[in-house]
Amino acid sequence: MLPADHPPAPPADLNALEAAVWPRGALRQDGVLTLGGLDVRDLAAQFGTPVLVTDEADVRSRAREYVEAFGADAHVAYAAKAFCSRAVLRWVTEEGLGVDVCTGGELAVALSAGVDPALITLHGNNKLAAEIEQAMAAGVGHIVVDSFEEIARLAYHADAAGTRPRVLIRVTTGVEAHTHEFMATAHDDQKFGFSLSSGAADEAVRRVLALPVLEFAGLHSHIGSQIFDTGGFEVAAKRVLELAARIHAEHGVAISELDLGGGFGIAYTCEDEAPEVKNLTAGLRAIVTAQCAAFGLPEPRVTIEPGRGIIGPSTVTLYEVGTIKNVDGIRTYVSVDGGMSDNIRTALYDAEYTCVLASRSSDAPPMLTRVVGRHCESGDIVVRHCYLPADLAPGDLLAVAATGAYCRSLASNYNHLPRPGVVAVRDGAAREIVRRETLDDLLRLDVG
Ligand SMILES: Cc1ncc(COP(=O)(O)O)c(C=O)c1O
Repeated sequence: MLPADHPPAPPADLNALEAAVWPRGALRQDGVLTLGGLDVRDLAAQFGTPVLVTDEADVRSRAREYVEAFGADAHVAYAAKAFCSRAVLRWVTEEGLGVDVCTGGELAVALSAGVDPALITLHGNNKLAAEIEQAMAAGVGHIVVDSFEEIARLAYHADAAGTRPRVLIRVTTGVEAHTHEFMATAHDDQKFGFSLSSGAADEAVRRVLALPVLEFAGLHSHIGSQIFDTGGFEVAAKRVLELAARIHAEHGVAISELDLGGGFGIAYTCEDEAPEVKNLTAGLRAIVTAQCAAFGLPEPRVTIEPGRGIIGPSTVTLYEVGTIKNVDGIRTYVSVDGGMSDNIRTALYDAEYTCVLASRSSDAPPMLTRVVGRHCESGDIVVRHCYLPADLAPGDLLAVAATGAYCRSLASNYNHLPRPGVVAVRDGAAREIVRRETLDDLLRLDVG
């Protein structure tokens, strides 16, 4: 008997690679998965497993799509929190994007990648004084302020440094959006931003405008993650532009920039119908145009900050299959050589993934599996439901799709597992862009 939460029927072809889910350069050649023209067996032999393999052409093409779809008068910034490495920041900036960072660490990576500081935006709800100083010394393009204390702190540091940072004020619109659902509530029970409903956002604008050492650029709003439709953005943009209209009436100042954040959804499984980027961006532009017209405001430059939408689909995690255990006919547990330390999203948010047998094709019948890691946690699940061929054997390679965002960046050393490396593939060549950790790396930190 199948378990109550079993997935829909097995796919017609267990070897198929659903185009929406896998990197654009993924193919099966002679039954074997190839990424960027390279056989996954060779990648595993050269770099070990688990390993994250990132298709550079896929990242670049998605970055380009956002820029082209959003238009020359708008701005796209890559949210580095999704995955932050020098190589990726170079690729996206070469494609015309800016970069959002939210710590001094991410800022250091961006600066060492050679990203033009003017294209960097610093976020964060608790920026350290050292990070503010670091950002100002570098001359970052924008700083998003998040609290009254921070406005004062920023003014103090700007004064001391003799600079005038361009400031966006992060507002909390009461809109929370995930996939197809959004909630538009009156209360804003979260740590980020200034509440619109309480009047804190209006007050933040007053305080920034009263400090000549800060340049007020505009407003910022981020409403959620893995969003598939523009409904939530519509409500958020309307609320933010109502504030812009009040600012205009009270201070005679029009906002020059409106940053609508990130959160655009991608397909993790064939059930997900992620919107086309051009439809999403056209929807956002139309909302802003309509709302500005309704409020009699000049249109600000609009910015979006996709992270997942750019890096998520480009990357595949390769694991080697270890123990295979059939649990009383309920399902088969397939253990791999990584787990929640390289992908916490399944345990953390019940995320769904797609995986295939990658090192060969198989005509064996489908077997309902749960792909699990090797950590001492029963919640250590990588793919909750997956049909794999019944002849799966230890030593086979499994590939899990769409692991580019919030996997390596949320990775840990739980159970003292070294974190996996990240390998970039392009036109038949592979190179490590983040080195695999070794046990020696971990032991070196233990100085007791
Ligand atoms: C302010 C801000 N911008 C952009 C993003 C990127 O979101 P996503 O990767 O879902 O596009 C986030 C994610 O949390 C965020 O907090």
